[in-house]
Amino acid sequence: MEGIFGKPIVTQEEMRARIRELGRQITADYAQKDLILVGILKGAYAFYADLARAIRLPLRVDFLLVSSYTGKAKASGKVKVLTELTEDIAGRDVLLVEDIVDSGCTVQHIRKTLGAKKPKSIKVCALLNKPSRRQVEVTVDYVGFNIPNKFVVGYGLDYQQKYRNLPYLAVLDKIDEEGKPV
Ligand code: IMP
Ligand code: MG
Repeated sequence: MEGIFGKPIVTQEEMRARIRELGRQITADYAQKDLILVGILKGAYAFYADLARAIRLPLRVDFLLVSSYTGKAKASGKVKVLTELTEDIAGRDVLLVEDIVDSGCTVQHIRKTLGAKKPKSIKVCALLNKPSRRQVEVTVDYVGFNIPNKFVVGYGLDYQQKYRNLPYLAVLDKIDEEGKPV
């Protein structure tokens, strides 16, 4: 599988180091808080597992399964939340964990939905951020890496549900923005 991708856009070593830093920062920022990490699946699963273990606090874990695009490389802007939280977030400090913030639609939608459940705070931690693709304004409180407008796969991120298990992040450059081969 790895033979079909070029150089990683972010290497495993860079990723490990950055996640350790994020973990330290979040540990300091949430020391006196009641942290619940809400992972946005499927894409965030790999990042989530590493990030959670880099945070030295007795946090709670929970997940939302979200489908936000139809298998095309381009996000549709429609966000479907397929599951519900199992933990009560009222009065707690929610940190949303995302693989990538692209148009911003997913984060905006989830912030709004969870905001109605009266958490004490909601912040967002994304491994990747594509600021040039933003369609709605959202605050991303913790960003692993800002990346250019390229479609990336691996480390949880997919193209048509494949390549999530690639152990590093690679650019998928054989398709255009609509997901068609080029
Ligand atoms: P949004 O456009 O910010 O709502 O992002 C929607 C979702 O699209 C993200 O959570 C990712 O799962 C997916 N996505 C956006 N850009 C990429 C990419 O470069 N590779 C793989 N998935 C992506
Ligand atoms: Mg995804």
